[in-house]
Amino acid sequence: MLGGARLAGEVAVVGAKNSALKLMAAALLAVGETTLTNVPDIVDVTIMAELLRRLGCTVQQDVAAGTVRLSVPEQLGHRADYELVRAMRASISVLGPLVARCGLADVAVPGGDAIGSRGLDLHAAGLTRLGAKVHIDHGYLVAQAPDGLVGAPIALEFPSVGATENILMAAVLARGTTILDNAAREPEIVDLAQLLQAMGGHVEGAGTSTIVVTGVGELHAVEHRVIGDRVAAGTYAFGAAITGGDVLVRGVDPQHLRIVLDALREGGSQVRRQEGAVRVTGPARPRAVDVATLPFPGFPTGLQPFALVLNSVADGSAMVTENMFEARFHTAQELARLGADVRVDGHHALVRGRERLSGAPVVGSDIRAAAALVLAGLVAEGVTTVEGVAHVRRGYPDFAGDLRSLGADVSTEVVPPVALLPGRAQR
Ligand code: EPU
Repeated sequence: MLGGARLAGEVAVVGAKNSALKLMAAALLAVGETTLTNVPDIVDVTIMAELLRRLGCTVQQDVAAGTVRLSVPEQLGHRADYELVRAMRASISVLGPLVARCGLADVAVPGGDAIGSRGLDLHAAGLTRLGAKVHIDHGYLVAQAPDGLVGAPIALEFPSVGATENILMAAVLARGTTILDNAAREPEIVDLAQLLQAMGGHVEGAGTSTIVVTGVGELHAVEHRVIGDRVAAGTYAFGAAITGGDVLVRGVDPQHLRIVLDALREGGSQVRRQEGAVRVTGPARPRAVDVATLPFPGFPTGLQPFALVLNSVADGSAMVTENMFEARFHTAQELARLGADVRVDGHHALVRGRERLSGAPVVGSDIRAAAALVLAGLVAEGVTTVEGVAHVRRGYPDFAGDLRSLGADVSTEVVPPVALLPGRAQR
């Protein structure tokens, strides 16, 4: 590699977006003040805070301290408007808590987004099994359980993260026991279960495929620390591998990245795990590595765009398979604009590594795609302009700042939302 954009140094990730948002929703389950710490300063947290305010909560975010205080009243609203759900699909995680607390929830159906149609059928089926009547009314998913929910055995057809979370948050206040089979096993599910337990809920087995929830009459508000963001940590680990760099990523449990670190090692990186940190030293040029996304503990779909970037500049050819979302290969088309040899056929992308990429304007369609294209820009000759980099602020508190602290030449323009990357590295 002819130097330039080699990422080197230390970076710390804060709490996981995909945990913090659900923990904020879970706060609805207890009257009083829930405090979350290690909360990331990202746009999606702001959107969730606004949604909770509209439901009647008082939300105070201390960005510097990384805390969010949520005061939840006795009487809650029960409607999540389209405007907010459309801005952030994770808004649907208020569905379970609202039906449990109010006996009624109407949450806008998100519709299609940049990574596929993403149904809600498993959320609806789970709540129906708990005794709710669920139907769609003028674009809203309405769940009614005026006499309360009742625990039941539920077998998910697919270990959906969002459905598992909504079912847990509903079942924890239901009468009787819920046995959830084929539950998602993501670390964020374990974090949610730990919060629910601290609140006085009875939840066992989170992190395995069978979760048993015995309902309680009420929960109490507590303080809880959000787990570290494995996808953000994985992003910087890939950054080291792609640029032949050397990055120590703090704030993450390396166990949550096991399969990712295995893939990086297979691609020629040296990986050293530490307590709450991982250090990745990239090779001069990575080797191509096959990746197939799967539910945890499989390779996370959120890091799939980064695997495309790595393979684009790797020695050899590799197949990247997306099993989780139907339309998550947008990055592939944009990488082709940078000169990558990527062919997409259905849910497979065949990538033949090239010696070099060449900078060009590209468009990032979602949080991870935009971040991955920024990393691609670091190893492309000349200037890469990533449009849609505002998506990155939805998931990373200060991506450009972190990359700069690791030695990259990255700047962000606020209006229009564009990142300029004078990529100096060549392969
Ligand atoms: N699915 C259905 N019906 C359902 C639920 C899911 O068909 O009722 C399908 C989806 O369409 C999708 C697949 O099942 O094809 C996986 O969906 P899942 O419910 O597991 O994902 P999610 O809850 O919508 C979360 C994360 C994603 C992450 C996935 C998979 C949040 C806010 N989002 O989405 O993260 O990729 O789990 O791990 O937690 C991101 O970080 O940017 C992101 C999109």
